[in-house]
Amino acid sequence: MDNIVKYINQNKEKFIDELKVFLEIPSISTNPENKNDVVACSKYVEKELKAIGLENVKIYETPGHPIAYGDWLNAGKDKITILIYGHYDVQPVDPVELWTDPPFSPTIRKGNIYARGSADDKGQVFIHMKSIQAHLHNNKTLPVNIKFLIEGEEEIGSANLESFIENNKELLKCDYVVVSDTAMFDYDVPSICYGLRGLASMQVDVTGPNRDLHSGSLGGAVDNPINALAHIISKRKDDKGKILIDGFYDDVLPLTDKERVEFTKLPFDESKYMKGLEVEELFGEQGYSTLERDSGRPTLDCNGIWGGFQGEGAKTVLPSKAGAKISMRLVPNQEPEKIEKLFKEFVSKITPKSVKVKVSSLHGGKGAITPLDSPGIDAAVEALKQGFGKKPVFTREGGSIPVVNTFRTLLNAPTILLGFGLPDENAHSPDEHLNLNNFHRGILSISHYFNELSKIKN
Ligand code: BES
Ligand code: MN
Ligand code: MN
Repeated sequence: MDNIVKYINQNKEKFIDELKVFLEIPSISTNPENKNDVVACSKYVEKELKAIGLENVKIYETPGHPIAYGDWLNAGKDKITILIYGHYDVQPVDPVELWTDPPFSPTIRKGNIYARGSADDKGQVFIHMKSIQAHLHNNKTLPVNIKFLIEGEEEIGSANLESFIENNKELLKCDYVVVSDTAMFDYDVPSICYGLRGLASMQVDVTGPNRDLHSGSLGGAVDNPINALAHIISKRKDDKGKILIDGFYDDVLPLTDKERVEFTKLPFDESKYMKGLEVEELFGEQGYSTLERDSGRPTLDCNGIWGGFQGEGAKTVLPSKAGAKISMRLVPNQEPEKIEKLFKEFVSKITPKSVKVKVSSLHGGKGAITPLDSPGIDAAVEALKQGFGKKPVFTREGGSIPVVNTFRTLLNAPTILLGFGLPDENAHSPDEHLNLNNFHRGILSISHYFNELSKIKN
């Protein structure tokens, strides 16, 4: 490994310069006007996979955005096979005026690289590319068999990935899936994430009268859809933070006593957490700590709301329509389809008869838990020790990567989540960035990981 470590250290700056090219492509998967950029980005990944020495590199078209694939399977039958998964698509950049520098002009400030996709997930995908390059360039071989699958629809719910996996089980067959698309617990705290939440995203459309009305002439006599929507939203939780949808908690996998003890040992500073957010008090489900609430317990949140007059000044209108986007983060064992149904039933039960309501499901996905007693996890612990000079912690995260559950069910493979982002790097927000020291230590860790994985008997 010495020559590989040396190569990674020598090429530290070069790798950062190369990452910029990837970050310059505005591969926003949800915007139809960026369709060509998304395609260009898939071609960039294809080119890069070839350049680092992968074989069978191919773009697979889907009804949506393309999937990029490549592999290197010459490590031998006695070595295990890993599937590296990540995404090259990114979130929209709005509100763009809040960015210090343009989101697709990567800029380095104070040891961070700023750009949309830097942390989520291009920077982390690049860590794997450079680790493969470091091995193949120096040793002409990889310690394990590697498959590389990078998709372009993660940020819009991976609608076409499940059928791709279903139809390509042999191609994707592996012992472990390795994903870098989560965060470290903190700077200098390398982390292995073993739990992700699921998701059920809903839209609620409330309609009152057939047209906007004069709120003086008719207000007080005709119900207002915004008021009705506020009523619906206010009934979703009690003041102890418990969700009131009937049956919502039925399938929740409870946190184990052991987990709860482990959570208390994590180096979490609650006052720093509040300061960083500029909030005076936190709010969540009573009986659970902040870390339990934001990763191991389900939630319900409004993500957007509209209705009535939004312009400057006042307008005395009684609007015809109002709506909201509401999402629920689920924990493993909760089924998104079942929760969507319970949500719909609950909303129709509490909606006043004076308005009409329509509830639609947007997208969803299941949560996931990775068992910690496996050689793949032991190897990850060793690799992070070597990359960071520190023993990693085990975390659960509140975000969702629905395909992780699909890998388990369709490929029968556990996913090892080795993330190198930080919780405050503004994924999905303005000024997204990635710490460059973690980028470097990530490349070292993943290179060591390949080596540690080669010690596992196939
Ligand atoms: N990388 C994130 C997932 C993530 C976020 C993991 C935070 C751990 C912590 C991923 O790109 C993402 O944003 N996923 C979406 C889900 C998807 C269905 C739109 C999410 O969590 O909102
Ligand atoms: Mn991501
Ligand atoms: Mn994301």
